[in-house]
Amino acid sequence: MNALDDLIDAARADFAAAAQPAELEDAKARYLGKTGRVTELLKGLAVLAPQDKKTRGAEINQAKQRIESLLAERREQLAEAELARQLHAEALDVTLPGRRRGVGGLHPVSRTMQRIEAIFGSMGFDVADGPEIETDWMSFTALNNPENHPARSMQDTFYVDMKDAEGRWLNLRPHTSPMQVRYARAHVARHADRIARGEAIPEIRVIAPGRTYRVDSDATHSPMFHQCEGLWIGENVSFKDLKAVFSDFCRRFFETDDLELRFRPSFFPFTEPSAEVDIAFADGPLKGAWLEVAGSGQVHPNVVRNFGLDPERYIGFAFGMGPDRLTMLRYGVNDMRLFFDGDLRFLRQFR
Ligand code: PHE
Repeated sequence: MNALDDLIDAARADFAAAAQPAELEDAKARYLGKTGRVTELLKGLAVLAPQDKKTRGAEINQAKQRIESLLAERREQLAEAELARQLHAEALDVTLPGRRRGVGGLHPVSRTMQRIEAIFGSMGFDVADGPEIETDWMSFTALNNPENHPARSMQDTFYVDMKDAEGRWLNLRPHTSPMQVRYARAHVARHADRIARGEAIPEIRVIAPGRTYRVDSDATHSPMFHQCEGLWIGENVSFKDLKAVFSDFCRRFFETDDLELRFRPSFFPFTEPSAEVDIAFADGPLKGAWLEVAGSGQVHPNVVRNFGLDPERYIGFAFGMGPDRLTMLRYGVNDMRLFFDGDLRFLRQFR
């Protein structure tokens, strides 16, 4: 075998050994580069006689072409291997089972909210909505809270670093009562013509469910919690209507008639008289214990006036309850914070 054949074999072996395109380009340089073995052979032609130059030159060129075609072949092989590797890496196994979307569920407090809305809805109550950032007037003043009332303090109420048009600090509403004020005032504005004519206006019957905020945190208080307040104002609405409506609500909410209600005298600036509502189950794990579920009372004349109505003519009641508390009682949960931790192990139980 002549030396040129050996050179071709060596190039073939070198190219085959190159596993990456970069290695192949290095191998190419060793044969066809400026100082490569083929190039050196061609340079050697210079010293030969013209006749020898021709035959030797032709032989070397043939070997060079052979090496170039070996190189091209190997380049193609490597490119194909790279393509195959990529295709394999991106392969989709269509026989694998699909990834399913998890089945979600309503949050237990949302369920309670929906139950409350459904029960009061069936008694003819509308559902109000309103902003969570409120003005001082809506959160306190309209509700007959004196300027120095402790509920207004920074220890009780979260303030927002922003003021209203009159320069008073805005707050995160500490109860849902402002929604009742907004609703009542809108209702009154809608019936301004009747009021001007001295005619009676349709009754206000509304519940206001939503998020509320107070500076408070322990097993039964969360800085963000829920309230649902109710308001019924008319020419002839009395405390006995409050008792009837709220008893009916509790029986339907807890799905039992074996339930006692107690209206315990209390104080709220926005109602007079005021009462705390306690319930006691005749049966079940909470049997016999008085559990506080709501604040309530006859709406204070100043508040009725702030609604834009004449307190000599319009009268009614309001109540406010905690859907979080109600949810705890209904499902036997003993720490309110569990509702807001977002722990799926807890929440899944209500799915
Ligand atoms: N707004 C009261 C509170 O947050 C609850 C309440 C509403 C009490 C209506 C009486 C009447 O404490």
